[in-house]
This record gives sequence, structure tokens and C-alpha cells, in this order.
Amino acid sequence: MIRTLRGLGMTAAIAIAVAMPASVSVAASRPWMNTSLSPDQRAHLAVKAMTRDEKLRIVFGYFGTDFEPKKYTAVPGAVQGTAGFVPGIPRLGIGPQWETDAGVGVATQGGAKIKPPHTALPSGLATAATWNPDVAYSGGRMIGSEARASGFNVQLAGGVNLLRDPRNGRNFEYGGEDPLLAGTMVGSTIAGIQSNNIISTTKHYAVNDLETGRFYHDARIDPSAARMSDLLAFQFAIERGNPGSVMCAYNRVNGTYACENDWLLNQVLKGDFGFKGYVMSDWGAVHSTEPSAKNGLDQESGYPFDDAPYFGKPLADAVAAGKVPASRFDDMATRILRSMFAHGVIDNPVAKAPIDTAANAAVSRADAEQAAVLLKNERGLLPLGPEVRRIVLIGSYADRGVLSGGGSSQVYPEGLNAVPGLQPTGWPGPVVYFPSSPMKAIQALAPNAAITFVDGKDPTAAARAAAGADVALVFLNQWTSESIDAPMVLPDNQDALIAAVAAANPHTVAILENGGPVLMPWIDRVPAVLEAWYPGSAGGEAIANLLFGRVNPSGHLPVTFPASESQLPRPVRPGTGLADGQMFTIDYSEGAAVGYKWFDAKGLQPLFPFGHGLSYTSFGYGPLSATANPDGSITARFTVRNTGQRRGMDVAQVYLSAPAGVFEAPRRLGAFQKVDLEPGASQAVTVTIDPRLAAVFDESAHQWRIAPGTYRLSLGESSRDIRSTAEVALPGLTLPANWRPQQAAAASPPPRPERGR
Ligand code: BGC
Repeated sequence: MIRTLRGLGMTAAIAIAVAMPASVSVAASRPWMNTSLSPDQRAHLAVKAMTRDEKLRIVFGYFGTDFEPKKYTAVPGAVQGTAGFVPGIPRLGIGPQWETDAGVGVATQGGAKIKPPHTALPSGLATAATWNPDVAYSGGRMIGSEARASGFNVQLAGGVNLLRDPRNGRNFEYGGEDPLLAGTMVGSTIAGIQSNNIISTTKHYAVNDLETGRFYHDARIDPSAARMSDLLAFQFAIERGNPGSVMCAYNRVNGTYACENDWLLNQVLKGDFGFKGYVMSDWGAVHSTEPSAKNGLDQESGYPFDDAPYFGKPLADAVAAGKVPASRFDDMATRILRSMFAHGVIDNPVAKAPIDTAANAAVSRADAEQAAVLLKNERGLLPLGPEVRRIVLIGSYADRGVLSGGGSSQVYPEGLNAVPGLQPTGWPGPVVYFPSSPMKAIQALAPNAAITFVDGKDPTAAARAAAGADVALVFLNQWTSESIDAPMVLPDNQDALIAAVAAANPHTVAILENGGPVLMPWIDRVPAVLEAWYPGSAGGEAIANLLFGRVNPSGHLPVTFPASESQLPRPVRPGTGLADGQMFTIDYSEGAAVGYKWFDAKGLQPLFPFGHGLSYTSFGYGPLSATANPDGSITARFTVRNTGQRRGMDVAQVYLSAPAGVFEAPRRLGAFQKVDLEPGASQAVTVTIDPRLAAVFDESAHQWRIAPGTYRLSLGESSRDIRSTAEVALPGLTLPANWRPQQAAAASPPPRPERGR
């Protein structure tokens, strides 16, 4: 200190001398504000200084918005339109938690209440289809910056429920059917969000894989299988993204509600995964005080969605009576504060700031451009070139905008809803089309073409309009949403529409805007299909760029597209025909054989396999080699070459097969790498397969076990398009249940009705 002062001028020295007593007293009175201490130390110091009521305040979250059905008026400090609010403790310098949904951007409850409007990324499933963690990170960073600039410090993002059933209405919010791909992509989004010194969640923990009866259904799954599927996706996401919070789900898992489930929360999440942050409940997912507190829930969210303020007075009483240990009560508060310190929430308070909508739209567009999957392209129909002079656009309001998924994650974009008034207009709607018109974007790329639009409601009229065109672009959609599941069939007679148009014009392209896999009974008659998902705020431009070859498609499916619902593990959706509120069980007896693993194990032929995606160029692979490492991981090496005429991005996928009968399925995705190559260029690629992907989890022995024997690696462009294989011998090995890669340890930064809001 003396050395520093000597170098300073007189004025500065006086200023410091005057300031010192104050800072000394702050350091003494608020030692947790000392940024040189660890988040753990800081949280412990702060909790030591907290009164019982202050601890109670921090473990209890409110819905942020007035809520008429419950005659609820938001508490002071909450911002109307927001998902959640946890008051702060000004005495201690701890600010409130302002919580916003969700994974594609800053969402608004009950309509477009929050100004300014926000940028929406493509759906989570779309981002997973990029197979590019950098894209996911950039998107996360962008939406996290909008959250911060809008005054939010907790983003309820990071949905990573495994896609077990294509009919789940929330599939669009998640990362697909494979634990490695989903965990990697969603974890990268989380890391991007948190790079803004705010907290992200990951959710909905766990096995919340269908919306039907979500408040009460019981998801039954073998615990070992869960560790190799749903829970592994969470584990990968947590290791990669280090989220400050995990949101426990509505449903029961193996008989016990997820938010009071000792196995899920204490044993697996906080035990084996080593999760140091806090568990918050989903909005209305708490059913008890003592079991919830003891079994791992740290913060009740969204009151009044729960039937009672379980973590309010009842918790105070339970602690006073010694039914919930005081140490556990402290642990709840400590975990919350630890995350607030660790992620910069307390040191960098959020403040409203302008949003650069143009720059953010470009981030969203870049994601959509890598997310779209070219499923089929016969005779090189795409990309469209200057020879295309008469273009007919049909369906899905393609003259006005692009569709988005519904529910609490709904983002309201600049320009607001391009197609207002579609049903449902109330919860879980409204149906929102982002005002990014594919038609306008196509017109900009083809200024000399005559472009017409037909709404597609009458297949015959659409076919007539298409007949004389150089190309017919048929936009097909399915709106899906939180709180409802959907059949895999396109609604509103769209199958008949595309079939009629394709019969009238051989140059027909289908462009899909949807939440997840749908059936395509017309596939053999339509030469080109582009899966655009819900493509986000700039989706119209992205679609145009892809159709006209300004951008080369590089998305690959993060999910199997079944040929029929009869191929699913449960051909009839569980809960079908039951009255709302009637309890039922979903038996996930396929265990870890989810998606392509199920299809491979059963020898089923899907419509499109997991990992599939075409390009306007082609790729070739050099030989594949594999080495076993002492920790059980496997290193694979190969080269990728662009063998075509255009620059393009390949998604090289390495699958791992175990000796017969060891894995749940013939192969598991072990590693992947996206590579961007000029024509003729090649790149050497080295990837490492995590030992847990070579292992089988043994719940009774509580460990990962790698069976000795010869393992096969398969390199390909999809799970069914294998180009090269290699073998590697693995010695038998066991890993503790809490095994984690080194770097993860150090990674930075009675039935209730559906709510209407
Ligand atoms: C959803 C969560 C969401 C929460 C807050 C719940 O209905 O399941 O995903 O974060 O509401 O809006």
C-alpha cells in the first residue's frame, strides 16, 4: 500500500486516505464482497451474516407477473411480463434475482409485454442440428446479452430433456435424442449465456419427456439406463456449461416427484455429478416442504403456481422443529449465493442497456443457416439459380414470416407477430410468426423472377398455381408448444397440399417449419425437402440463402425421423384417452436405447436416420485410426476432404460399437466434428471418445464399467451412412460413478389445470 501511494500525486493520495476507512469498514462488514475469495468462501460468509428471514427470502421465488386465475398480484420489485422474481437483501449488498425464460431468447409471459422486443434464435433442436458448439455458444452469448440488457440475471434456458418421443410438444426446446450431442450443444448455449455474468439453468431435471399429464405422470426408467441416457445428457450439459442452477421437473420419476427425489437430486446431481449450484423448482412443481428440502430442492420458484408456499412459513416451522436440519437450510441459501457469486451476478449488477438488434439478428440467422437440414435433393434441384424465373410460394404464410414454438419460451420479436389471431390465441399460444418473410428474402435474391404466393388452403388451387412455375416452394408447418403433445402428422391437410402440388410440378421443394419429426407420406413424390425447424427471428432470410445456395446446407438431424408411429417404443402416446388429471405411468422400458439406438437395435428402417444431412458439395474420408487411452477414453483420427465444387461444412460422426450384447444398441455416437472446407481442401481431425460412452453404468455396483474386448469405431455422415471403420481393443476397466473429465472440474464460467397466461 505504501509503495502504491508513493507513486501517486497529492490529490489522489488524499482521496485514497479519505476513502480508506470506508473501504476498510466495507471489507470488515461485508467480507463476502471481497472478490479475491472463492465463491464458496463468499457464500459461506454471507450466509453466516443472514437472519432466518433473509435466508427464507432467498429460497423463495415468485411469479413475476400478475396472475388473474390465482388472483395474484406480483410483489414489489418484480417486472410485469417476467417469469420469476426473488427479492434481494439490500442490507447485505445482495440484489434480487430477476428470472426470464428461456432457451431461444428473452421470452415474455402473457403476451408481448416486455419492451423492447427481443431476438429469437432458431429452436433448441435446430441449434442442435448445427452440430456446431461454437454456433450454440454464440447464440447463448447473444440471448444472454439481451437478458442482461433487459435487466435479467437468471435465464431459464438450457432445456436438455432427451427426445424419447417425437410427439413431445416441447421437443423444439431441447437438444435431440443423443446424450452426447444434446449435452454438448445445450452446454455450449449455457456457457454462452453465462459469459454475460448472469446465471443460466439447465432443465427440466429429469425425464420430463412428454407434456401429456406432465404435472402428475410417473416416468419409470431403470436407473442404470437413465444414467446412460437422460441423465447423461444433463451431465454432459452441466460439465460443458457449468450452469448456476438446475430446474427440477414437474413429473414423478420412479414414483417420486422430481423436485423431492433424493436419488435424482442428492445422489446423482449433487453427489455423482458434483453439482455445486442450486436446484430451483419448475413453476408449480413443488408438493411438500420437508421431503423437498431434505431431498435436494434449494429454491421454490414461481409462487403462486404451487398449491402452498412450501418454502415460506412451513419451511421456517420445519427448521424450527428440527424436521429440516438448520445445516440443510443454510446449504440451500449457500448454494444460491454461491452461484450468484460464481457467475458474477452480485459483482456485475444487471442494468438496462440498448440492444443491437441488427447484429443479434445476424447471429440468429447464422444459426438458422447451419441448422437447416437438406433431407432430400434429387437431380440437384437445389440450389436454385438464375434460370428460375417463375417461382410459386405456397403455404405457411411464407409471404409474411416464419413460425415459432409456443409456451413460456415464446419470444416476441421486433415487428411483433406477423400473423396475429391464429388459434390458440391464449395459453399455450399465441401462435407467433416472426416477421421475417421468406418471400421478401427470395425476391431480394431473385430480383428478376416473377414470384407469386398462394396460401395453400385449397390444394387444387395451389396445384393449379404451381403447374406452370419453374419451381414450387411449398412451406409446411406444425405448431407445437409447451403443455401439449402433438401427433406426428402435419395438420390442416398439408399432406394433401404437398402431394397435389408435387403431382402438378416435378420441381417441387418442401420447406418444413416444425418442432420435431413428422411423417412424410408424400416423400417419394417430392424431389427436394429442406427441414428448417423453427428458424428464429431471421429465418426467412436464412431459408432464402439456403435455397439459392448463398449458404451451403450443413445441418444434420439430431433426431431420427420415423417412417410411422408404429415404429416408436410406444406406438400409442401414453396418457391418450385419459381424463385430465388421471394419474398414469410412462414405462420407458427401452431404457437407454433412445432414438437411433432403438431403431438400430430393432432393425427398423426410419424415414431419415439420425445424423443425416445433405450438402451442395460432397465429402470423402481418409482412413480411420483409433487408440485406447489409459483412462478408458479412445482417440480417433481421420481426414475429411471436400470432394465437390463448392465450399461446405461436413459433420463427421464417429460411432462406437461394443462387443455383442454389451451396449443397449449396436452403436452409440462417440464423437463428432464439424469442418468447413473449400473445394478440394482436406483437414486432419482428432476426436476423443469419453470413457463413459464406452462404458455401461451399473447402478448396483454404483460404477461405470468398460467390458474388455474389441470395440469398433464407425466414421460416417449419419448413423446409417458409414464410410470407414477401425477396431480398438479395450482392457476391462471400472470408473467411479462420479467420474468426470479433468477440465470439467475446472470449467469456468390433485391435478391442477394448465395455467393460462
Ligand atoms: C416451464 C418452465 C419455465 C417456467 C417459467 C414452466 O411452465 O415448464 O420451462 O421456465 O414455466 O416460466
